[in-house]
Amino acid sequence: MITKPHDHYREDIPGRADVADTPELLDYYAQLDALKTGALWTVANKIEPWHPKSASVPTLWRYRDLRDHVLRSVDLVTPEKAGRRVIYLNNPGRQDVSAAVGWLYSGLQVMRPGEAASAHAHSASALRFIMEGSGAYTVVDGHKMTLGVNDFVLTPNGTWHEHGVSAKGSTCIWQDGLDIPLVNSMEAGFYVVHPELRQAVTHPVDDSTATWGGVALRPQIHGAAGTWTKNYSPLFKYEWAPTYDALQRMASLGDSNPFDGTLMHYVNPLTGGPVMPTIGASMQLLRPGEHTLAHRHTGSFVYQVAKGRGFSIINGQRFDWQERDIFCLPSWMFHEHANASTTEDACLFCFHDLPVMQSLGLYREEALAENGGRQPVA
Ligand SMILES: [Fe+2]
Ligand SMILES: [Fe+2]
Repeated sequence: MITKPHDHYREDIPGRADVADTPELLDYYAQLDALKTGALWTVANKIEPWHPKSASVPTLWRYRDLRDHVLRSVDLVTPEKAGRRVIYLNNPGRQDVSAAVGWLYSGLQVMRPGEAASAHAHSASALRFIMEGSGAYTVVDGHKMTLGVNDFVLTPNGTWHEHGVSAKGSTCIWQDGLDIPLVNSMEAGFYVVHPELRQAVTHPVDDSTATWGGVALRPQIHGAAGTWTKNYSPLFKYEWAPTYDALQRMASLGDSNPFDGTLMHYVNPLTGGPVMPTIGASMQLLRPGEHTLAHRHTGSFVYQVAKGRGFSIINGQRFDWQERDIFCLPSWMFHEHANASTTEDACLFCFHDLPVMQSLGLYREEALAENGGRQPVA
C-alpha cells in the first residue's frame, strides 16, 4: 500500500517557530528552566520534524570481517560467564541504545557442540537466523526446534527459551534479532532466569512445524493446542527449504514487485499477521539481474544476505553485499536493491518493526519520483 505522506516538508513555508534570542527571552527561559519547564517554541522544530530524521547510519557489516572475531570469543569467554556469547552490531548513530538500527538490536552468537545457554525469559521479543553450523536447537515453552542454515526461530516476549548445539553438531553461528531498544525506550523490560536453568521438553521435537508448517493449510486441532490465544505465531520455526521453494515458484510468474522483487512475509498461520507483535520478518528474492526501483517508508530494517551477491543503494550510498553479510536500512531513507549476478538469484532475509509502525498508524511510504526511480550514487 502506498500512503502518500504530507508533502509540506519545505523549510521555507511559515507557521513554524522562528523566535530570535533576546536578553529578556534568555532570562525568561532561565526562569522557566528553574521551574523544570520550557518554552515549546525553542524546541518545537526539533521535536516535531517535517519528516522522520533517523539518527541511524546506513551500515554494512561484512561477514568476512566479523567471522574470525565472532569465533575468537569462543576462546575468550564461556557461555556460563558471558551469559550469551554475542558480538552485537553497534550502529554509529545508535550506540547510546546499543541498536543496529532504529529501535532494533542485532548480534552474532556462537556456540560450540555440546554447549547450551541457560533458560530465561524477557519482555523483549527475539528471533534467530542460523548462519552456519549444524545441530543448533532452541527450546521455547517446552517446544524443541532443531535448526539448520537459513532457518529462523521465534522466542516471543515472555516465553521460556534456551539455545544450544547438540554434541554431534558443529560450531554454530546465528544472528539474533530483538526489540530490546524499543522495550527499553518504553521502560517495560523484565528479564528472569529459569529457576532450574533448564526447561523440560514437553512436546515432540519439531512439533510446531509438524503442526503449523503446512503451506496454506490450517490444521484442525484438538486439545490444548486448539485454544492458542497468544499474540505471536504458534509456528515457532520457519524453515529455509519451503520458503525458498515458495519464492522460486512466485518468481517464476515473472511479475515481481518493482520495489521489493519477490517478497514473502513470514506470518502467523492463524491470523495471517506478523510473527510477533513488535517484530516482523520477510524473505525476498531478487531474480538474476533484477534491480528494484527506489522508495522510502517509515520503519527500521535489518537485512541478512541468505543467498547470492548484489548491492543496495541507501540514501545515495552503495553497499555491495554477499552471502552472510548484514546491513541496515534506517527509517525514511530511499533504498533500492540489485542482484549482481545474471545467472543466480539472490535472497535477503529481513526483520523489522513494521508491526509497530502499522499498529500505531505510523506507516508511510512513497516512491522516488525523479531520475526514473533510481537514486544517483554519491
Ligand atoms: Fe533470550
Ligand atoms: Fe522497502
